[in-house]
Amino acid sequence: MTTLKSSHVIKAKPFLRWAGGKTWLLKHLTNVKKYDFNNYHEAFLGGAATFFYLEPKGHAFLSDLNKNLIETYNVVKTDVEDVIKRLKLFTNDEQSYYRIRESTYESPVERAAQFIYLNQTSYNGLYRVNLKGKYNVPYGFRKKMYIVDDNLRRVSLSLQNANIFSGDFSSVLCNLKERDLVFLDPPYTVSHNNNGFIEYNEKIFSLNDQIRLSEMIGAIKEKNAFYILTNAAHKTVDSIFERGDQKFELTRGNGIGGHKAQRGQTTEYIFTNIKL
Ligand SMILES: C[S@@+](CC[C@H](N)C(=O)[O-])C[C@H]1O[C@@H](n2cnc3c(N)ncnc32)[C@H](O)[C@@H]1O
Repeated sequence: MTTLKSSHVIKAKPFLRWAGGKTWLLKHLTNVKKYDFNNYHEAFLGGAATFFYLEPKGHAFLSDLNKNLIETYNVVKTDVEDVIKRLKLFTNDEQSYYRIRESTYESPVERAAQFIYLNQTSYNGLYRVNLKGKYNVPYGFRKKMYIVDDNLRRVSLSLQNANIFSGDFSSVLCNLKERDLVFLDPPYTVSHNNNGFIEYNEKIFSLNDQIRLSEMIGAIKEKNAFYILTNAAHKTVDSIFERGDQKFELTRGNGIGGHKAQRGQTTEYIFTNIKL
């Protein structure tokens, strides 16, 4: 009799390079996977490292302020084969890059392919736009061709159980129920440890936004739901988010960005009302 070994299921992983991506944090979240929560909410989605890692069993509500990012997720969810076909037509060289960067595409599939292509072949993967909202990161001369492979299909599968929408983080509360888990990874407001990644969008995340976020965490707790917040390790952040919950201080190397001087070690806080 042949013994069947348990087949190794390959997990979907982030398909975008995203500043502030949380891959480094995942090893600290192993216990969260065992936690018995209902639906999952992630309001600063970016590259969605935590969503892919946790593989939430319930429904997922995924959102971000960046409309182009959200359109890309939705198109990958519904039309992944078309996106792959389109991506295969794009080549990784300087001339093609600037042609594709300057193009305005009519169809959501083309725009999603453009978004993924630029993200993978640009200089540093940062999402940066000019005053007209046009992506303006220069070509990256990255030898490795952006990856068009089965991961995008796995991503598409893992998104089937998700509502993906653009908007301010405050919309989390519209769908929140008891015992849901909310993962919150806002942009930095303070520049700590020389970390230069403050701007993720046309609009800077302000101190007032951090205060709004803290108030939302109060509302999450009132609903008997769970939250995990990551944020810059800074005394201002501490004073805004201190609610008598657990607080961890974690240090990591910072791997994205154009200037070597801006790289290095940064320390972040995790605040949570679940046992990690
Ligand atoms: C630190 S990144 C999230 C990174 C993500 N956790 C990952 O693993 O890649 C912060 C994200 O917040 C989004 N953002 C900025 N202001 C926002 C707001 N007011 N509401 C919702 N999302 C916002 C940005 O577009 C950016 O994608």
